Amino acid sequence: MQPVTEDNITELAAARWSSAHDPRTAELLSALVRHLHAFAREVRLTEDEWMSAVQWLTRTGQVSDEKREEFILASDVLGLSMLVVQMNHRLDPAATPATVLGPFHIEGSPELDFGADMSQGLPGTPLYISGTVRDLDGKAVGGAVLDVWQADTDGAYESQLDVDEARLRAKYTSRPDGTYCVRTIAPFGYSIPMDGPVGELISRTAISHFRPAHVHFLIAVPGYEPLITHLFQEGAEYLDSDVVFGTKAELVVAFEPRDPGPTPDGGTSPVPWCHAAYDFVLQPRA
Ligand code: BEZ
Ligand code: FE
Repeated sequence: MQPVTEDNITELAAARWSSAHDPRTAELLSALVRHLHAFAREVRLTEDEWMSAVQWLTRTGQVSDEKREEFILASDVLGLSMLVVQMNHRLDPAATPATVLGPFHIEGSPELDFGADMSQGLPGTPLYISGTVRDLDGKAVGGAVLDVWQADTDGAYESQLDVDEARLRAKYTSRPDGTYCVRTIAPFGYSIPMDGPVGELISRTAISHFRPAHVHFLIAVPGYEPLITHLFQEGAEYLDSDVVFGTKAELVVAFEPRDPGPTPDGGTSPVPWCHAAYDFVLQPRA
């Protein structure tokens, strides 16, 4: 029989998991065992605390489904998502930085033309976001698909609502000269979902549970690193306390108020609107 003690359990368990058939899986699982054991030793984890953590994970799984991504949310608020983003996207300083994907991206958004409205009559101030997609040398990148999504003015994303049609999300394609134009409504800051296990934990802390006003982008074009990012509104509340650590100075842009009149898509707005001008800079694929 194997003599198992407090002193040798970590090495025994790590060695067992390093037998995984795939070398990377072996590396991941044996390191995970070592770090979990080190954590338990450092805080002298009690049995009640261990059981609370197990029950928290169970509840996190129980509220999760294809629309509610509570584990992504947990990773986001713990700063893990942003750490993984930073380590895996060490981009040229001139490239537009990446930030978190978040739990609310939906695949298969409708394709819209230059300047077409992805807000489809929802209440809010019209917002045009326009500019050019470029590479590191400043050359225009045509044919880039900009997958765009955002919350409504109540802070709700489509996946949090019971709706049948695409809501506040669309795909735009940059024109041959690299230009793009998104027509939406100005987003507000919002709270992350607080009615689940992540909210339970946050409410036991002094952590602000809000995100500053932003619009999400996932930009893909052959030959370049896919870019997952946001544009944040300059001057927005919570820029300094984003609950998921996602803000970066390079991603903050003015939403400039404009009077009724010509808009960047060549149309005319009968009501006051806002303009955010932003050029995305893509890094060539390594
Ligand atoms: C979001 O911006 O959609 C988001 C990101 C991380 C956690 C919650 C929401
Ligand atoms: Fe968001």
